[in-house]
Amino acid sequence: MQMLQVHTLRVDGLKQPQYVEKEFQFSWILESKRKGCFQKVWRIRLWKQETLIWDSGERRSGGCFGISYEGPELSPLEIYTWRVDCEDCFGEKAGAEDTFRTSRGKEPFHTHWVQPMQEPTVKERPEPFGNHAVSGHRDYREFQPSQLVRTRINIAKPVEKAFLHISAHGLYRLEVNGRKIETHLLAPECSPYDKVLMFQSYDIKELLQTGENILGAELADGWWIGRIGLGSWSCQYGDKKELFLECEVIYSDGSSAWYGAENARAIVGPNRYADLFVGECHDAGAVPDGWSSPGFDDSSWKPVQVMNIGLENLYPHIGEPVHIIKEFAPAAILRTPEGDVVVDAGQNVAGFLRISLAASAGQKIVLEYSEMLREDGCFFQNIMGVNKDQRDVYVTGKGLQSWNPSFTYHGFRYVRITGWPGEICCDNFRVCVISSVDDYIGEFSCSDERLTKLHQNIVRSQTANTISIPTDCPQREKAGWTGDITVYAPTMMYLSEGENFLRRWLYYLRQEQFENGLVPSVIPYWEVCRDMSRRLGSDTSCGWGDAVVLVPWAVYLATGNEQVLKENYDAMSRWMGYVEREAASGYPEEYAYFDEERKGHQKYLWNTGFHFGDWLMPSIMMAGGSPQDTAQATKELFASAYYAYTSQIMSQIAEVLGKKKAAARYIEQYKNIKEAFLAEYFQKEGTLTLSCQGAYVLCLKFGLVPEGCRDKIVEKLCSLIRKNEGCLDTGFLSVPFLMDVLCENGRREQAIELLFQTRCPSWLYMVEHGATTIWESWNCIQPDGKVGTYSYNHYAFGCIGDWLYREIGGLQLLEPGYRKIRVRPGVESGLTWVKTRHRTPYGWAAVEWKKRGEIFEMQLQIPVGAEADVFLPDGNRLAVESGSHAFSCSIS
Ligand code: BGC
Repeated sequence: MQMLQVHTLRVDGLKQPQYVEKEFQFSWILESKRKGCFQKVWRIRLWKQETLIWDSGERRSGGCFGISYEGPELSPLEIYTWRVDCEDCFGEKAGAEDTFRTSRGKEPFHTHWVQPMQEPTVKERPEPFGNHAVSGHRDYREFQPSQLVRTRINIAKPVEKAFLHISAHGLYRLEVNGRKIETHLLAPECSPYDKVLMFQSYDIKELLQTGENILGAELADGWWIGRIGLGSWSCQYGDKKELFLECEVIYSDGSSAWYGAENARAIVGPNRYADLFVGECHDAGAVPDGWSSPGFDDSSWKPVQVMNIGLENLYPHIGEPVHIIKEFAPAAILRTPEGDVVVDAGQNVAGFLRISLAASAGQKIVLEYSEMLREDGCFFQNIMGVNKDQRDVYVTGKGLQSWNPSFTYHGFRYVRITGWPGEICCDNFRVCVISSVDDYIGEFSCSDERLTKLHQNIVRSQTANTISIPTDCPQREKAGWTGDITVYAPTMMYLSEGENFLRRWLYYLRQEQFENGLVPSVIPYWEVCRDMSRRLGSDTSCGWGDAVVLVPWAVYLATGNEQVLKENYDAMSRWMGYVEREAASGYPEEYAYFDEERKGHQKYLWNTGFHFGDWLMPSIMMAGGSPQDTAQATKELFASAYYAYTSQIMSQIAEVLGKKKAAARYIEQYKNIKEAFLAEYFQKEGTLTLSCQGAYVLCLKFGLVPEGCRDKIVEKLCSLIRKNEGCLDTGFLSVPFLMDVLCENGRREQAIELLFQTRCPSWLYMVEHGATTIWESWNCIQPDGKVGTYSYNHYAFGCIGDWLYREIGGLQLLEPGYRKIRVRPGVESGLTWVKTRHRTPYGWAAVEWKKRGEIFEMQLQIPVGAEADVFLPDGNRLAVESGSHAFSCSIS
């Protein structure tokens, strides 16, 4: 290896992206064999083929991320090569290059939406929690089949370039001249369709031929028509499947042509139905042989109708496509006590099974997906409710065949198989795991296998819930609940390259924000979610709508890139304005009886309306309470506390962006809220009116503590934990801060006790009860073994992930983007070794520590351009420059 290397070249955080827009940023990573290395000079050049388009010139700077492109506007749909050359402080030089493709650009399309002839899908508005699946009444006749659409284009001259831009009302699966194109699954993906609908652009030049060419698309329901969200309503955006395509061909003679689907022909497809939630019913025998190839006789197919639908919401694809990120053989095939044949994937995942078999035609195989077996080992569906079937049906064709669904995905570990012809074995199946995110940049393992597993479980839950948008769970709702990502974002940023993924979702959030600044609890805000809000009495909640402030803040801290703050600042301010008005205008019912001072405080308290509060607070749930009970019990104090917190973060954000006045105003607001909060919720003896762990956690974390009372409050929190037999009792909004609050206030031993706790509720309780993902509720499996009907794949309580890195591994950022890192190995944990690695914007930072008797040893890697503040267990503190370092000391 050379002394200096440049690698991990990214454009907008993505490797060789295919949809680069007008404004974008470069980043790279430097790696050196020398200690104390930092970049002195960088230079970027960019070429279109051989032509130099932009030369930044030499810039004397250590910056290696968030570097904006400053050259002339780029042409659409071009591959550009860019090269970065760097020189470090020792005069070593290194460079690297990579490519990206630009998006289609903004010129108007030349073609139209088309609609195949079809029955409209029935608008289903079921009551939540009715259960077709279990009662067995359903015959799926109310579902509409997929549609095959066949577009013929004639190519008469040599082609220079050919791109197919395509989108759907529903989902599409693409075939060109008989070849399946499967790089984007579930395209055009999930977004607030009425405002933004992505189209994908495929380079199809190599697939085209002179003469007749066929562009084939199979259309299915997806998010447009399918039964989505908790309430499983169909037809959120429309009741018919439609296709938009434009095939843009640039001929070698310089002329261009645009072909649409206006003259396409369509027929009912081989999927008798295909619903994103319910599942897919595929009849292999009904696939017309060669339907997407030239020469096929489509005379019996029907013309499509050209639609007068606006194209303003079409937007080039952003970010990584949903794709199969890994596949593997199942762990086992089980026969349950009831005689069912069940495939055990060995771990809980989101995706589907691919089946392969030899069969005669017309055999009906049913695959039912579930996350858990019942306590007696029998198959059962853990997700209850209407349209939660998670059931695929495959009717065999003849001979050797392989199939997986194309228009659905499931959350599952177990799949009951019925109707399998002949012998069945693991070789018949592949478990396909799908996600948008596969660039994992965090690693954690340690001497206690259970903690290593906990970390793996967090990774799995994240993978399953980063399918197009950040979701709560991959089975019951697949919904972009804002609260879940608010608490989880810091961990996501430790585990994976999450910047681009979250920025895309924040773009959707901005589209869905109300005129008055309100940020809905779910993004995209489907009608089915609006209905739930109506029932609850509010479109938002503290901690949920706060996503607009807290998610960009988490992204900024991890990346050091102000871009995410800039693009969301206006939306944040509008949200804060909304909260301010809500707080100021809402008075509690007993207001008339308050004295003047207390009346004066009310406008700083967000103490009215609905909030999810410390959602799923364990003691209430375990005593048989409902999630709504947890909200009711905690909402008032939690909303005001979060109001204080977001005001404080807003002042920091304004500071970063150089908005001094706004920063001062938000800090003033924080002080006012604090004063009101202390007066309203603290009793004289320094206890809170709401006596639960979460309330004390928030007060300590958000600085809402009366002068001189901190120790007392910390003690109160610890006594509540002791009273709860050493178990946590924190819900969604307080659990992310619980462990930090204990560590920051001299109660590290209490945090360690919670970490290793195995009684319910605790993280290791889940692990010891066989969890392979993070559960929605701590007691999904009761201590007596009873298996509950919850989701077993919610990342929210996995928000301990970043604490593991910071306080057990010992790797924590001190400055946004990790230019300065604190290393403080968590030796008090009793672990004998821990390995932690994280790819910071400057490169990999790694801490590997171990204890041998009384001797402590540590290997440390600090990336080029960064420095560390190292705390050794013998009490020594050292400033450390970049590079590899070894330490050892005795543990006193
Ligand atoms: C979801 C949660 C979500 C919550 C709203 C649930 O049904 O699964 O994760 O945040 O509703 O409180």
